[in-house]
Amino acid sequence: MSDWEGVRLHVVTGKGGVGKTTVSAALALALAANGHKVLLAEVEGRQGLAHLFDVGPLDYTERRIASAPGGGEVYGLAIDAREAMHEYLTLFYKLGRAARALDRVGFVEFATTIAPGLRDVLLTGKTYESTRRQTSGGAYVYDAVILDAPPTGRVTRFLDVNASVSSLARVGPVHRQATSITKLLHSPRTAVHVVTLLEDMPVQEAVDTVTELGETEIPVGAVIVNQVRKPHLNGEERILAKQRELDREAIVAGLQAAAVPHTPATLDRLAAEAADHAARLDLEDDARVDLSTLERPMYDLPHLPDGIDPTAVYELAEILQEQGAA
Ligand SMILES: Nc1ncnc2c1ncn2[C@@H]1O[C@H](COP(=O)(O)OP(=O)(O)O)[C@@H](O)[C@H]1O
Ligand SMILES: [Mg+2]
Repeated sequence: MSDWEGVRLHVVTGKGGVGKTTVSAALALALAANGHKVLLAEVEGRQGLAHLFDVGPLDYTERRIASAPGGGEVYGLAIDAREAMHEYLTLFYKLGRAARALDRVGFVEFATTIAPGLRDVLLTGKTYESTRRQTSGGAYVYDAVILDAPPTGRVTRFLDVNASVSSLARVGPVHRQATSITKLLHSPRTAVHVVTLLEDMPVQEAVDTVTELGETEIPVGAVIVNQVRKPHLNGEERILAKQRELDREAIVAGLQAAAVPHTPATLDRLAAEAADHAARLDLEDDARVDLSTLERPMYDLPHLPDGIDPTAVYELAEILQEQGAA
């Protein structure tokens, strides 16, 4: 049983570089398992998803980029404000070719410069449309949509589309669109997952973001702790390491057994490293305490020493599934 039954839109955020794109991709594969069809969308134009899955550059056309265990499929999409604007003008104002002509005179740049919030509405609007799209038979085209969203510093404003456009349009299609998006984003069909590392800054940003989302009443999903490393010391060893009292004879025996040459200086350096490692483990414990105050489901993803390739994404997907993410 998944923790996110009924959630159709999964938004993934986190401090820059913590692994948002990697986790979005893994979550998409996890949700696609067992015959589901999911859409994985990025909005920052970085082509991060294409790199991860080792496929050609993504664009505004939804394209199959991976298959999941049990017959599922992941589609990829790079949402671009300009394309979204064309689609929007065509759809709501029946502008068709005129939209392209407007673009030639720099209309999109003009409009998004005078109203920066408009860009976000266009990007979230496309996500909204994909989440709700149905087949002629009335079934949803996608079982879930995963959005590789902007980083924590910008995500609340990005998602708070109504605030962005309220100064821009009080009536008309832009306003109606913003109202519909807002309704979805504030409903239990949405979950914003926050990715973090067990380090001060990402944890602080995760905590701040969960608070901000709470204030705007956007539902927070899971806290996903990425790049978790196995501790090399158990509880007792950790205390001894900090006091530089690890058993030196045992260390010498270990080095000899491994045929590693050593001098007393080697032992001193090892002791210093062990003390550092113990201090780092203490900080990680503190980070977990801070994250637990958020009272959200928490998933751990291991640090994969060989880096992230498509196979690694499948591995992370399985680990997410085991913990109830899908
Ligand atoms: N669990 C992991 N183990 C090892 N490397 C990881 C892991 N998660 C992410 N990375 C690496 O960290 C870097 C940043 O990840 P990325 O998903 O691009 O982050 P973001 O989208 O938040 O900027 C990339 O080089 C990626 O391969
Ligand atoms: Mg990214």
